[in-house]
Amino acid sequence: MERILTTDYVFHRDFTKEYPIISYGKGIYLYDKNGKSYIDACSGAVAANLGHGIEEIAQAIADQAKKAAFVHTMRFETDILHLLSEKIGKLAPEGLNRVYFTTGGSEANESAIKLARQYHKDSGKEGKHVVIGRWQSYHGNTFGSLSAGGDIKRRQPYTPNLLPFQHIYSPNCRHCPYNREKGDCEQHRDWSCVQDFERLILQIGPENISAFIAEPITGSQLGAVAPPQDYFKEIREICDRYDILLILDEVMTGFGRTGKHFALEHFGITPDIITFGKGVSAGYAPLAGMIASDKIIDSLIQHSQGKFIHGYTYSGHPVSVAAGLSALRIYERENIVENAKVMGSYLLHKLLELKEKYPFIADVRGEGLLIGIELLKSIQPSAAFPVNYKISERLNELAMELGAVIYPGSGSIDGVAGDHFIISPPLNISKDEIDELIIILDHSLKLLIQELKEALAL
Ligand SMILES: Cc1ncc(COP(=O)(O)O)c(C=O)c1O
Repeated sequence: MERILTTDYVFHRDFTKEYPIISYGKGIYLYDKNGKSYIDACSGAVAANLGHGIEEIAQAIADQAKKAAFVHTMRFETDILHLLSEKIGKLAPEGLNRVYFTTGGSEANESAIKLARQYHKDSGKEGKHVVIGRWQSYHGNTFGSLSAGGDIKRRQPYTPNLLPFQHIYSPNCRHCPYNREKGDCEQHRDWSCVQDFERLILQIGPENISAFIAEPITGSQLGAVAPPQDYFKEIREICDRYDILLILDEVMTGFGRTGKHFALEHFGITPDIITFGKGVSAGYAPLAGMIASDKIIDSLIQHSQGKFIHGYTYSGHPVSVAAGLSALRIYERENIVENAKVMGSYLLHKLLELKEKYPFIADVRGEGLLIGIELLKSIQPSAAFPVNYKISERLNELAMELGAVIYPGSGSIDGVAGDHFIISPPLNISKDEIDELIIILDHSLKLLIQELKEALAL
C-alpha cells in the first residue's frame, strides 16, 4: 500500500505504509475499527505474552494509578516494587537476586553495560570498558545497546556515533561463517566461534574488556536460533578466565517464552546479569530491567557507598510495576510456562508439516513458543531470495490480509541475506487457536509461492 501524502500528525514507523487502526483486543485476537480480526501470532513484538483484554491486569493498573501513579525511586519505594522484585529474583538462578527496573529492553541493556563498567572500575580495574557482543544479535536501539548488538541494518546509518565495542560471530550453525558442518564443533569440542572469542579478548587485552553480551536464543536477527548445547558453558569459562562479566539478554526469551522461566535454563549456566523486558508485564505497560548478581551488589556496597551511578525518571514506575506483578501472578496461577512448552511442541509439529509442503521452507526451529521459520530460494546449495524482494515482509502482508500477524525478519544467513519469520503467539494460546493460525499461514504461504513463481520463475 503506497501512502502518497500524509495528512495526519503521526510520525509513522514507515511513511509509505497505511496501518490498520486497532480498536480493541481479546485473547489472541486484535480487532481493527472495521471489525476485521487478526490473530496476534507474534504477540506484537513478542511482548503481549498473555494476549489482549485481560481485565485483571487492567484493574491492577487502574488501582495503582488511582493510589499513586508516580513516585521517584530516588526518594520513595512502593510495596509492589518489593513484591515484584522478590518474584523475579526468585525465578532467577541462585546468586542473582537484585532487580533493577527500566521501561524498555534497550534501557535494560544500557543499564547492564554501565553496571558492568562500574563494577570493574570499583574493583580497581580502570581499563575494563569494552563490551563484546555478537553479529546478528539485537540488544536495542539506544547507542550503548546498538553498539553492543550486531544488527548490521540498524547499526549502519549510525556507524559514526557508535561506541567502539567489539563483536564475534554468532553460533549460526546452519550458515556457519567458518564453514563447519552443523554438529561438528560439538562433536570435537572445538567451537570456532568460541575460539575466536578468546582470540579477540587476547587481541584487545582482557584488561580492557568489561562484559560479553548475548541472547541465549537469538530472536529477531536469526529467527529463534539456539546455540549448540554446551556453547554457553564454554563462553562462561572464558569469561571467568579473563574476569569478564556475562550479560544474558532475556528481553525476548524471559518469562516463559521458550517453555522455561528464562532461556538460560536450557543451557545450565548462570550469568552475572540477566536483562529482561517485554513479557514481564505481558505488554500491558512499559516495563523491563535487569537482575544483578550478589557479587556485583556486594561490590557496589563495598566500593561505591551502595550507589549505582545511573537511573531513569521512570525506573520502577508504579503503574508498570503493578502491571508486571499482575501479569506474573497470572503466569504462576495459570501455569503459563508449561502451556508454552506443551503448545510450543504442538505448534512446532504443525509448522514442520508445512515445511513438508513448501520446499522453500528451509528450516523450522525454536523452543517453546518462540519458533523461527527460515525461507530459502534453494536449500542445496543454500541460496537466499533476492534481498530486495523482502519476502518475509511480503508474507506478513499476505497473512495480515488473511487475518494473522507474524514477525518478519531478514539477514539470517550473513546479516543481510536470508529471510525468516517468527511465530510467537501469546503463551496461553490453545490447540484450536493454533490450528486456526496454521490454516491462515498455509494459505499465505500458498499465495506467496504463487507470486514468487511468477517473479522468479521457480
Ligand atoms: C533480545 C532483545 N533485546 C533488547 C531489545 C530492545 O528492547 P526494547 O525495544 O524494549 O527497547 C529487544 C527488542 O526487540 C530484543 O529482542
